Amino acid sequence: MNKNLVNLISQAEIVRIVRRLAVEIDRDYQDRSLVLVGILKGSFIFLADLVREIESPIANIEFLRLSSYGSSTISSGEAKITMNLPPEARRKADLFEIAGKDIVVVEDIVDTGITTDTALRYLQNYQPASLKLCALLDKPARRQVPVKIDYLGSTVEDLFIVGYGIDFDQQYRQLPDIYYLEEENQDEIAEKANYPINQAITAKD
Ligand code: IMP
Ligand code: MG
Repeated sequence: MNKNLVNLISQAEIVRIVRRLAVEIDRDYQDRSLVLVGILKGSFIFLADLVREIESPIANIEFLRLSSYGSSTISSGEAKITMNLPPEARRKADLFEIAGKDIVVVEDIVDTGITTDTALRYLQNYQPASLKLCALLDKPARRQVPVKIDYLGSTVEDLFIVGYGIDFDQQYRQLPDIYYLEEENQDEIAEKANYPINQAITAKD
């Protein structure tokens, strides 16, 4: 299963990264309670580890699921929200939810930036008190849409990453370390993960 995978970030290093991010978040929020919004599916393990390191009160944990799509004829794509916040969270006047709250979006990788940008714009519509982004990994070489990452785990090269919740064709999410797929797999990666180099992105989550 692992023969084409190259270890990039070890489990021990991930633990250090997640702790450091939690410290940064705690420093900013202190006694204010925050709402975390995980972007599915890739952030599920990262979010699960992160919440257990955060000491600030967490008022709620919500999820959004998006799939990005585009074509080479469209220079900047837009992501489609395929799993929304629950209706009570979307009602602006509701006693909880996004409106007036301090929100931290939790994302696995910021790649082209399209998915994250769409999620942030979507949440901004609900008038949070503040809206920040925590991303485990950043691939600035592939950016198409500018995204401000407030809490960043690590910057990576233009490599196809798997493990720690991050998939290739839905596989490898269970791996405790972070790997990249070897160069010889590039054609398969492009086909199965819709990851064309220098083109708009399609159907990933
Ligand atoms: P973006 O919209 O291009 O920024 O893509 C963001 C999403 O694409 C991430 O949340 C990931 O789910 C997925 N993605 C981007 N790069 C990789 C990768 O190297 N491996 C697996 N998934 C990726
Ligand atoms: Mg994702």
